[in-house]
Amino acid sequence: MKKTARAHTNIALIKYWGKANQALKTPLMSSLSMTLDAFYTDTTFEHDSSLTEDTFILNDQEQGPEESKRVFNYIHLLQEKFGFNDHFIIKSTNHVPTSAGLASSASAFAALATSFAASYDLDLSRKDLSRLARLGSGSATRSIYGGFVEWQKGIDDASSYAIPIDENPDLDLSLLALEVDTKQKKISSTKGMKLAQTSPFYQPWLARNKQEIAELKQAIKEKDFTKIGKLSELSANEMHACNLTANEPFTYFEPETIKAIKLVEDLRKQGIECYYTIDAGPNVKILCTLRNRKEIISAVQKSLTNVKIVVASFGPGVTLL
Ligand code: DP6
Repeated sequence: MKKTARAHTNIALIKYWGKANQALKTPLMSSLSMTLDAFYTDTTFEHDSSLTEDTFILNDQEQGPEESKRVFNYIHLLQEKFGFNDHFIIKSTNHVPTSAGLASSASAFAALATSFAASYDLDLSRKDLSRLARLGSGSATRSIYGGFVEWQKGIDDASSYAIPIDENPDLDLSLLALEVDTKQKKISSTKGMKLAQTSPFYQPWLARNKQEIAELKQAIKEKDFTKIGKLSELSANEMHACNLTANEPFTYFEPETIKAIKLVEDLRKQGIECYYTIDAGPNVKILCTLRNRKEIISAVQKSLTNVKIVVASFGPGVTLL
């Protein structure tokens, strides 16, 4: 009746930024991510016929109807799917700064789908968990697995799920998450990716997706850090270029975001190899290897004030606690 799951968040190296079906959250493109060890969500799902209402507690605070809406709608959808209708309590603790472009929804819905399924004793495969997580948030589809994960876009609910590319990569790859601004973001991913589709660059970007996925998979296989970094940076820039050229144009960048981009470019000019990626928020994530990690951290601390740096590497797939 009560189960707890832990899911780690992930960073997309090839971005998901558009839905084919809004309700099913099936994407217009395939994406490829790295699950991160440093950011995760623990969620307990409890259901009981004696409960008289639904409750959502996030980071020890009971959430009001507005904040709970997305989560309640999601659980009601799953309950309807499997034929349950009792009330429930969800207790969730986020070890991710909420809504700051660090994809807390990825770990949140992966942990929620998994604790839900376990509490009702549904014996689901990881593929089916991945499909359920997708109904909560697209990026959650990938957080079922650890390491490198591909979300194959598929054509419908049955065929759109994640597959592990390499759950325990033997690869020297670190991610430095620069928290330049942890304020709530203004444009949700759901809204941003809809707007981006009005960009004249959106269709050409989509047309490149298959090739970009194939190239990144090859680079992972070859353990080629340079190729992985270049392809990741390109995908992020393609996404943000579509935002800047949308009708209406918008951007998640803040002045500190640009400073961080310039710093990465400068470091590269000095022979310190690193690359950046940016999601639906102002924070910048730097991809680097162990050899340069210390040097990059001190360069960031020197040129960006008030920036919190969290070092991450490969994290595991979802687990029941
Ligand atoms: C930029 O998964 O948050 O992080 O499916 O609407 O919940 P919804 O969107 P969400 O979008 C994530 C967008 C991204 C890129 C990515 O993670 O692939």
